[in-house]
Amino acid sequence: MTAGDPMTRSDAVLVEQARVVLRANDRGDHTEPTASGLYPAQWNWDSALVATGFATFDIDRAWTEIRTLLSGQWADGMVPSILFHGDDSSYFPNSRVWRAGAAVASSGITQPPILATSVRRLVERTPHDRREQLLAEVLPGIRASHEWLLRARDPEGTGLVAIVHPWESGMDNSPVWDAALAAVPPEPPVAHLRRDTGFAAADDRPRGPDYDRFLNLVTGFREVGYDPAAMWAHSPFLVADVGFNALFLRAQRDLLWLLDEVASPDPAGRARVAAQIERQRRALAQRWSPTLRRYCSYDVRHHREITAPGVGGLLPLYAEPALAAEHPELLETLRTWRAAVTYGVPSFDPRDPAFERRRYWRGPVWLVVNRMLADGLRAGGHPEPADVIDRDSLSLLRRSGFAEYFDPVDGSPLGGRDFSWTAAMALVLLS
Ligand code: DGY
Repeated sequence: MTAGDPMTRSDAVLVEQARVVLRANDRGDHTEPTASGLYPAQWNWDSALVATGFATFDIDRAWTEIRTLLSGQWADGMVPSILFHGDDSSYFPNSRVWRAGAAVASSGITQPPILATSVRRLVERTPHDRREQLLAEVLPGIRASHEWLLRARDPEGTGLVAIVHPWESGMDNSPVWDAALAAVPPEPPVAHLRRDTGFAAADDRPRGPDYDRFLNLVTGFREVGYDPAAMWAHSPFLVADVGFNALFLRAQRDLLWLLDEVASPDPAGRARVAAQIERQRRALAQRWSPTLRRYCSYDVRHHREITAPGVGGLLPLYAEPALAAEHPELLETLRTWRAAVTYGVPSFDPRDPAFERRRYWRGPVWLVVNRMLADGLRAGGHPEPADVIDRDSLSLLRRSGFAEYFDPVDGSPLGGRDFSWTAAMALVLLS
């Protein structure tokens, strides 16, 4: 669909169905990713994206989602990846495993920092006379979360922040992490504790040894009381993920926009963020690989480049739309990946031996990533590839509903069903 196309009947039906999904997963002040029991809590980046879906038809409910997410922010500024608000017994690792969070029980790690970007979207849909008060409520928390990331995850001031757990990337079991994760012992085995495979096909979910390593990291972090300095010093997994950094750079640019929205200017605060952005932009630019024609993450712990071709390596397009002009090869990479499947954008290069079309972040299409890439391409003056991505997203929605993710080869629905963030992306796409 391009701007100006009339909404077809099936688009109107999709919009109504997407609203039904969000309402069904709505727990009043936060939204669960799916009603099935697979994820009985509030996930950070899911929630921020879901808010942008609510914003298309219920702006007050959208702001409530953000407020609830910030209610679980830690005193040091971290916004945890998961907030546990109620009965989480159908999930592992739940609040009894993490044993973290003060005001709200939570995980002890974070997730892609997209809050400022979502809040900007909400502000754009909020009447002018209400913006000031809402921004006063959320801006301090957003700024603190960015400062926390820079302090805790880039203590040496390189311009790139590092993640300590693949879960923080949001792309949990991407082959991009395989080599770095190999340093984490796959023990103790947690197969008997896992609950996810009771709700979704085991072939769609991360493998057993990956889960064992995921939990091994959690236990290590819990033992040091989730102290950021200790996690930085000792986590066997420490990676500067280009996807995470791209989303953070985008969020910093959106934070600047938000700072410019408030009535009372803060020139010193603005200058500080602008200087951070410059440093981040320069550092991200260093991660460009001319031979691989995409951005590459860096294994900080083992001092080596990560060359595995994950979709995070294309996300700088979203951080900085002008990058497509600087590196037109990125568009070629995107085209090649798309040409190898039926529906784009696969989360991993389909021509690579590690590609798996059904297994979570090892190949399937995720509509949240599609939305970000299409947005970045359009903003950078590339409407054609953006239209191709949007058409694929709509075809998947029409064919398979609001699945958690999709098979890029035959379009079949994978993971959980009636998923909140997929419904939210349908609403954003069709609004
Ligand atoms: C899960 O449990 O699969 C989540 O992605 C971890 O946050």
